[in-house]
Amino acid sequence: MTKSNFPENFLWGGAVAANQCEGAYDVDGKGLSPVDILPDAHHGRWEALMNPKDALTKTYDFYPSHESIDFYHRFKEDIALMAEMGFKTFRTSICWARIFPNGDDAEPNEAGLKFYDDLFDECLKYGIEPLVTIQHFDTPVALMTKYNGWEDRRLIDLYLNYAEILFKRYRDKVKYWLTFNEINMILHIPFFGGGMDLNGKDNPEQIKYQAAHHQLVASAKATKLAHEINPDFKVGCMLAAGETYPKTCRPEDVWAALQANREGYFFIDVQARGEYPSYSRRFFKEHGIELDIADGDLDILKKHTVDFISFSYYSTRLVSTSEDDKQTEGNVFATLKNPYLKASEWGWQIDPLGFRTTMNALYDRYQKPLFVVENGLGAVDTVEADGSIQDDYRIDYLREHIQAMGEAVQDGVELWGYTTWGCIDLISASTGEMSKRYGFIYVDRDNDGNGTLNRSRKKSFDWYKKVIATNGADL
Ligand code: BG6
Repeated sequence: MTKSNFPENFLWGGAVAANQCEGAYDVDGKGLSPVDILPDAHHGRWEALMNPKDALTKTYDFYPSHESIDFYHRFKEDIALMAEMGFKTFRTSICWARIFPNGDDAEPNEAGLKFYDDLFDECLKYGIEPLVTIQHFDTPVALMTKYNGWEDRRLIDLYLNYAEILFKRYRDKVKYWLTFNEINMILHIPFFGGGMDLNGKDNPEQIKYQAAHHQLVASAKATKLAHEINPDFKVGCMLAAGETYPKTCRPEDVWAALQANREGYFFIDVQARGEYPSYSRRFFKEHGIELDIADGDLDILKKHTVDFISFSYYSTRLVSTSEDDKQTEGNVFATLKNPYLKASEWGWQIDPLGFRTTMNALYDRYQKPLFVVENGLGAVDTVEADGSIQDDYRIDYLREHIQAMGEAVQDGVELWGYTTWGCIDLISASTGEMSKRYGFIYVDRDNDGNGTLNRSRKKSFDWYKKVIATNGADL
């Protein structure tokens, strides 16, 4: 066996999000989350994501999130399985509408708070460190209908009130916090990223960046608050990362790639360096964007930068300035097909070296610790006659990505941990499917909601257990 490339206290684990696994959508006083009004892939999910009026006004036959994998009632069994794999950390999110059903209620919902107490206690029982996202695509629907979500500055105080409740309640249970999942997603799916409907609005770009400003200020203020409540808290930002490559060495393509990379860096430049990057001035001017910045905002951004940078990584992207080039299907981020890469069944291109490149680029730029909080392969699994699931393709994907991560550590990147996405099968965010599985733990449920919801171990379960036990040496 080779030597481990990972630090001794490396945080191995897995990640989920409340809105994709909990189910129990109307239980114990919970309000509606964006996913609760979305159908599955075959009944207009993408259309509703892009035009939330559909989601708000139409009635669908089936809502995948309503029961989901019923993590709400089965988390003890699930955490026990994660403990069996040797997880050091477990990333989940808190559902805002479980704590404040309308987002702006005067008092928090005790039943919701109690659920997360029980969940974190269960993790801690096994020595699993919770890593908690405060908002993962989960602005309460009530805030969307009342304020159009993060377009409205009042969301900052509502979010802070919510965050304060969490920081105080879980002060001694949770140390690692992420303020917003994939903060750059607000530019691509404003419904998920910001609880916003931008259809029919003049200059949607203006609204997106204004909403982003509100989130960046909320994130900095939450970071300040977190450190006041518990100086040991570690607060991170979270980026949907993945370097964009130029298709050719034509200078125009190289310039286009630099611009595309800046689109994501823009957020982390503010959260990690504390100010709007110089290039944003020209960008705003040329796109007719004028930010409404309140007194004190810039000071807050400057003083309260994040402790670490977390990110999801699934793929790199490819850009060209030639009109003949077409982007691939099935990607949230525009990209061309890279002829050097294989792709998943959903067209997500697989690029482990790009993972190393992405980590190095982030570390070069920010010099702050990194945390990989999502990575994995969405694939169809087949249950064999004997009940086993031979997911060698998933093992291959993860092995290559963990190797790349080990290389990045040797390159000098300070890396705190790695949580694979969807460590237990859950509902896909973009498609609403169950069949796009990422887990080590199989859940018996299909795209139409049929199945026993029973859990079982895939082949990758034992493999990942060994990876953790050897601190990444035995892949
Ligand atoms: C990230 C999100 O964008 O990618 C997750 O943070 C999401 O919520 C994951 O599930 C994978 O995407 P999908 O569409 O396959 O679920």
